[in-house]
Amino acid sequence: MCPPEHFGVLYEINPWMHREVLVDADRAREQWANLKATLEQAGAEIEVLEAAPDQPDIVFTANAGIVNGRQFVPSRFMHPEREGEVPFDVAWFEQHGFTVDRLPDHVHHEGAGDALPFGNVLLSGYRFRSDAASHAYLSRLTGAAVRSVELADERLYHLDLTFCPLDGRRAIVAPDGWDRYGRRVVEALVPELLVLDGDDALAFCANSVVVGSNVIMPSCPPTVGRQLEAWGFDVAVCDVSEFLKAGGACRCLTLALDVTLGPQGAR
Ligand code: ARG
Repeated sequence: MCPPEHFGVLYEINPWMHREVLVDADRAREQWANLKATLEQAGAEIEVLEAAPDQPDIVFTANAGIVNGRQFVPSRFMHPEREGEVPFDVAWFEQHGFTVDRLPDHVHHEGAGDALPFGNVLLSGYRFRSDAASHAYLSRLTGAAVRSVELADERLYHLDLTFCPLDGRRAIVAPDGWDRYGRRVVEALVPELLVLDGDDALAFCANSVVVGSNVIMPSCPPTVGRQLEAWGFDVAVCDVSEFLKAGGACRCLTLALDVTLGPQGAR
């Protein structure tokens, strides 16, 4: 995670961002600290990346890149506004003993914001922030089997706004965010789906962090909470309203470091 020291809505690169909306810096700091404490209570160990001046969105560490064991593949951002984050992300991973492997510079991919492992597959979204062409390179670099899903709603511009793996069998999903073929890909991959309706998807309910049997969510409608509890999960809600102003929520504010992708051909 990266603290919101220089966070703000300073440009507009997704439909949620409006420069005239002010971020309350103190509230942002409190909400971030509360999210961090909640994740720690759930059993997570948090590494902190120092905030960088002039990089308001670096708080959204999900977009730093792809982690695979001790390998790190930094993002190639779609918008130049975020490209300045990359050297800071790369420096952190190098200092922590990761091997850094880069995508070719003509393709875009926004890291764990657009790619989440499920079983032995890396499910990756494309269209608004990542190119479909990046998936083959990602697969070549990491050795993972990548399955592509085309995103269909500009407001759900990253895969992690539409897909939240819970365990080996289940995921929270917002199929409104995918095209018809993408829905079929996910249905074939995930045995049990918790389907969000349109409003819950737009409240970023899928942008949740799973730590063991704990699900940390930006909001949780009763029907969703009941299903999660019936499956044995404990739900914690963390208010991240200041970050919603930039189009991000709980999961965007984190990057899982304990990820090892399944090899190609594994079943
Ligand atoms: N303002 C950021 C952007 O538009 C928000 C990033 C949200 N991150 C995510 N993983 N969904 O790039």
